[in-house]
Amino acid sequence: MDCFEVTGGTSLRGRVRVTGAKNSALKLMAAALLASGRTTIEEVPDILDVSIMSEVLRRLGCGVDFQRYTDGRGGGGGRVVVDVPETPSSETDYDLVRRMRASISVLGPLVARCGQAKVALPGGDAIGSRGLDMHVAGLERLGATVRSEHGFLIATAPRLVGTSIWLDFPSVGATENLVMAAVLAEGTTVVDNAAREPEIVDICTMLTEMGARITGAGSSTITVEGVTELHPVTHTTVPDRIVSGTWAIGAVMTRGDVVIERAAPEHLSVALDKLRAAGATVEQVEGGVRVAMAERPTCVDVVTLPFPGFPTDLQPMAVALAAVSTGTALITENVFEGRFMFVNELVRLGADVRIDGHHAVVRGRERLSSAPVLATDIRAGAGLVLAGLCSDGVTEVADVHHVDRGYPDFEEQLRGLGATIERTHRDRER
Ligand code: UD1
Repeated sequence: MDCFEVTGGTSLRGRVRVTGAKNSALKLMAAALLASGRTTIEEVPDILDVSIMSEVLRRLGCGVDFQRYTDGRGGGGGRVVVDVPETPSSETDYDLVRRMRASISVLGPLVARCGQAKVALPGGDAIGSRGLDMHVAGLERLGATVRSEHGFLIATAPRLVGTSIWLDFPSVGATENLVMAAVLAEGTTVVDNAAREPEIVDICTMLTEMGARITGAGSSTITVEGVTELHPVTHTTVPDRIVSGTWAIGAVMTRGDVVIERAAPEHLSVALDKLRAAGATVEQVEGGVRVAMAERPTCVDVVTLPFPGFPTDLQPMAVALAAVSTGTALITENVFEGRFMFVNELVRLGADVRIDGHHAVVRGRERLSSAPVLATDIRAGAGLVLAGLCSDGVTEVADVHHVDRGYPDFEEQLRGLGATIERTHRDRER
């Protein structure tokens, strides 16, 4: 098991470059399945989840080549080339899919392209039930027959036909899967109450470059006019707003001064406003955003919501921020019910947090106190590392393979900002 040993007490200072968003790159790779030939995706993060998606695509018969940038641009990104055969295979293995929920995003493209898909039911982060009912209901509306058997979702559709779909909740994954299925359907599909995340816009942009006819991406009504064929393209992934937000919150928590290169402030408006309310200086600078903090931050309330609301993926960092701020904050989680699980770990660092249903009441402390803690998911792991930077002594964050799923070069990036952090390895039983 890999661990981080984080020494508390340093402010994060300097510049950090952000590569493309994990939550976009994985879906862009899946979208490549919609056209035979070589699709190139730039600014793909060099992370475990991208390796898993590469393997998913390889087992579907694609050639996948990841080349990390060596031009010194930083950020831990690279270029992925996905070479898709005329007839991809349509079955994904359980051993891979259970490791990463985003594997489910091959479902829509495979049904559209092959008329069938057999996709293992996903695993991924332990952050709530994360049903697939909207993916399934939407595909059925498009004319597919979907059944669940022996741990697999099996969808068949000799022909997908455009229709209107109303999502119960603006699910990111369901919106993406349905749009990717609809681009090759016959006729027009309207997805209402669609997710509006920048990653949705990114995927729709790439699909449009591939020849799809999509309007309304970024609004809650997306209209897709089906076409008969798409062609491969070269596309650059949208910058990762969650990684950007992590560095921004880290700068505030440690009373530092960080320029986040390539951060897109328009994708982080609510989060950056919260940091301003906490007392930080947040300004747009050439090529990115600067976040600086001189004093101890003030507690701010946070409510997670689908975009453009405060992102649930930054909620652990918001709780960690409140834990070292002055006053009391109420943090409300509306997207994933299990997302407060990591709070038990934060409490081990001396944080004063009470959970009541989907609310956390956080009373800030001047300083936290180092202890061994466990990363329970990608973002919880990053939040615990930030908390470790604000603790006395050395905090050991274990199970950091979770962090490796989402943050390229995490510890190198932190060291570049002045933090003392080492990766260590130890046996699970000690
Ligand atoms: C994606 C992101 C994740 C982020 C989340 C919300 C990826 C790989 N992951 O996850 O980091 O936290 O968006 O911004 O892009 N739900 C259902 N039925 C469904 C689909 C979803 O009940 O058919 C529920 C989920 O359980 C959850 C909520 O809807 O409570 C939001 O899920 P969704 O937006 O689909 O998140 P993901 O696409 O899984």
